[in-house]
Amino acid sequence: MKRTVLVVDDNDINRLNLKLLLKDSYQVLEAGDLDGADTMLSGNRVDLVVLDLALPPEPDNPEIGLGYLAKLRKESPDTPVVVITGHDERAIALRAQKLGAQDFFGKPFDPDEVKATIDRSMEARWQAVREQEMQRALETQVNKDLLGESEQMQELKALVEQVAGAPSTALIRGETGTGKELIARRLHAASPRAKQPFIAINCAAMSAELLESELFGYEKGAFAGAGERKLGWFERASGGTLFLDEVAGLPLQVQGKLLRVLESGEFSRLGGDAIIISDVRLICSTREDLKAKVEDGSFRDDFYYRIHVVEIEVPPLRDHIEDLPLLAEAILIRKAALCGKRIEPFSDEMLEQLGRYSWPGNVRELENVIERAVVLAAGDRVDAIPSLAGPQPAADDQDPLAQWLQQLPETGIRAEKAVAYFERRLVETALERNHHIKARAGRWLGFGDRAKDKMRYLCDKYDIEVQENP
Ligand SMILES: Nc1ncnc2c1ncn2[C@@H]1O[C@H](COP(=O)(O)OP(=O)(O)OP(=O)(O)O)[C@@H](O)[C@H]1O
Ligand SMILES: [Mg+2]
Repeated sequence: MKRTVLVVDDNDINRLNLKLLLKDSYQVLEAGDLDGADTMLSGNRVDLVVLDLALPPEPDNPEIGLGYLAKLRKESPDTPVVVITGHDERAIALRAQKLGAQDFFGKPFDPDEVKATIDRSMEARWQAVREQEMQRALETQVNKDLLGESEQMQELKALVEQVAGAPSTALIRGETGTGKELIARRLHAASPRAKQPFIAINCAAMSAELLESELFGYEKGAFAGAGERKLGWFERASGGTLFLDEVAGLPLQVQGKLLRVLESGEFSRLGGDAIIISDVRLICSTREDLKAKVEDGSFRDDFYYRIHVVEIEVPPLRDHIEDLPLLAEAILIRKAALCGKRIEPFSDEMLEQLGRYSWPGNVRELENVIERAVVLAAGDRVDAIPSLAGPQPAADDQDPLAQWLQQLPETGIRAEKAVAYFERRLVETALERNHHIKARAGRWLGFGDRAKDKMRYLCDKYDIEVQENP
């Protein structure tokens, strides 16, 4: 879509000339007086205003135009204004610039100069927008808000704020991508420890030995390869928060050691005797059912009770899908800014399509999908997200037989009809998934050597037309 320029000039010839000059690059709106300009501005998205300062009712009095310029700057500070001054009106032009005009040009017009001035002003404006949004995106990247206005999210946010102030250990539970780490960071940021370090450790990725040496640190010579004393996370996070991500992956022996440190508030570096007092708040997260792991013996029960003093359960996105438009918009703005692109907000249809998907990867998946769409977007809008083409059936209507039965009257169902229906669907699906090559579709269906013949037969039977590939 083209950017929009509003030309405000009472002279019809001037307006026409400007329109002819600009129409290839911009969508041009016109107004002959200030009321007309107000109407245009309230009814359209306007990216730049070209304002003649000599306007009715007193074309000789530039104060009217200057007054309107001041009003525009105040009411829509993001819309640049380029003013048209009379011949040799340097003083007026300078005043206009003081009032915030982006640039100016004088009458009579030099078309090339006018076009260049407007192009430059538009570009400067969008450059500024991009920089601002980039800045905002970068800021929110580190200090992102937990978004969502649904009842679940409001409760969650209230709980997070409440728990943040307490010194207790917290366990955050939820599916992948639901925002567990975001919540852990929020718990830290809203706590009295906010100015001290927050250290996140992924427990699933490390061996017991490595974890121990990283958590508690070591003295020089504690083991082969320990060339220097190294401080562990417990020491480095002192006064702050230690986030044990994927705590289910923590080896039993490390759980035991951690438990002792939590109980006593003390530890020593590996290979050292010095007792170090630790003041660290522990926050853990898990996607797994820790209770079940306790029951089957792969997680220590005493450690489990120690870390789930407060439990925060994060809902999957599909359970608060009413938050999707808000999330999608916020993510779109951030991703577009990071890509340096200008993308229009999602259409209602688009949001509806996104809302029908089941989002097994939750908000992270939503972020990835939108990022991909933004990167691939050719113009300034995202019209379709191909990977989500079909609606995802909810768990309980996944059984196609049940669906089919629903469409039929209760009595008189004929078995052949049902079988034919499914056979036909099977054949069609096989063809779709195999580039409409009969032999290949037949093999996909397990017809073996006679795949092609059988598919021919079935296609005839159901009148399925297949364009034969060469
Ligand atoms: N409610 C939310 N509001 C805004 N952003 C969110 C929200 N929930 C999740 N996100 C974003 O989604 C992404 C994934 O979140 P996060 O890393 O916290 O998930 P996680 O639960 O730790 O996932 P995993 O279990 O896979 O590690 C992050 O970029 C995060 O900022
Ligand atoms: Mg995580």
